[in-house]
Amino acid sequence: MKTWTVMAQKGGVGKTTTVVNLAGVLTARGARVLAIDLDPHGSLTSYFGFDPEQDEGSVHELFDAAVGERAVDVTRLPRRTVVDKLEIITSATALVSLERRCGQVKGMGRVLNRHLPKLEARYDYCLIDCPPTLGMLVINALAACELLVVPMQCEELALKSLDRLLRTLTLFGNSSGRTLPHLVVPTMFDRRTRASRDTLLSLRCREDINLWPEVVPVDTQLREAARLGVPLTRWQPEARGAEAYARLCDTLQNNRRRQLRLAGGAA
Ligand SMILES: Nc1ncnc2c1ncn2[C@@H]1O[C@H](COP(=O)(O)OP(=O)(O)OP(=O)(O)O)[C@@H](O)[C@H]1O
Ligand SMILES: [Mg+2]
Repeated sequence: MKTWTVMAQKGGVGKTTTVVNLAGVLTARGARVLAIDLDPHGSLTSYFGFDPEQDEGSVHELFDAAVGERAVDVTRLPRRTVVDKLEIITSATALVSLERRCGQVKGMGRVLNRHLPKLEARYDYCLIDCPPTLGMLVINALAACELLVVPMQCEELALKSLDRLLRTLTLFGNSSGRTLPHLVVPTMFDRRTRASRDTLLSLRCREDINLWPEVVPVDTQLREAARLGVPLTRWQPEARGAEAYARLCDTLQNNRRRQLRLAGGAA
């Protein structure tokens, strides 16, 4: 099972949309996919029609059991979605208070790491959706993955969040002794606006990131697909946004570690 984390230290940049649409492409290609929603807001959970107010049967059980040092069976958490071969471990709003409570508990950064091996044989890919703020949940997502996908909205403040993210990756690298390959993905690109064009140019000048050479364009069909609760990549695979996600998936599936620059600058 390959585990990819979708993370950005900024809200509303397309993280959840990226998870949903990559999952759509991967399942259309025959892969068995597990999506894990680690965002207490539960956008991914709601996307597929589940209720993030419900903590029973959600990812909250894993963290709650870790705090209480109780055993829990992760294999009963994945739920089917409307998409064939796509299952989800839902999030719960209760994760917010848990994150506050668990500060003193040892090993809380590796809860997912401890459980995911038990799901290894059931899925080909695991995609993790993150909240926009750094904390125990994001640390879990970083520790559990082999590749980081970083959506970057093409607007002025994007570059600041990129600096924050690179600092986080350096800190993570120092504490875990592991460099994590990453791919920055420009999203919501609108070539008619100057902000989009300028941001893309700035991103392309950076030598400290591994940038996907293409873009995910603004496509209102992505919003419409969200309203319907299906990945655009399954509903209208020929839509511009869907085609971009299919090409992104090509890059992620074909690009092996040696081609992805390692976070922290080393190639
Ligand atoms: N390429 C795009 N074109 C148009 N709309 C988009 C695109 N990508 C995402 N959106 C829309 O923008 C909004 C924010 O996207 P999304 O929820 O994926 O971001 P997020 O980073 O997960 O946000 P949050 O930090 O709140 O979890 C959603 O309404 C989504 O449908
Ligand atoms: Mg989200």
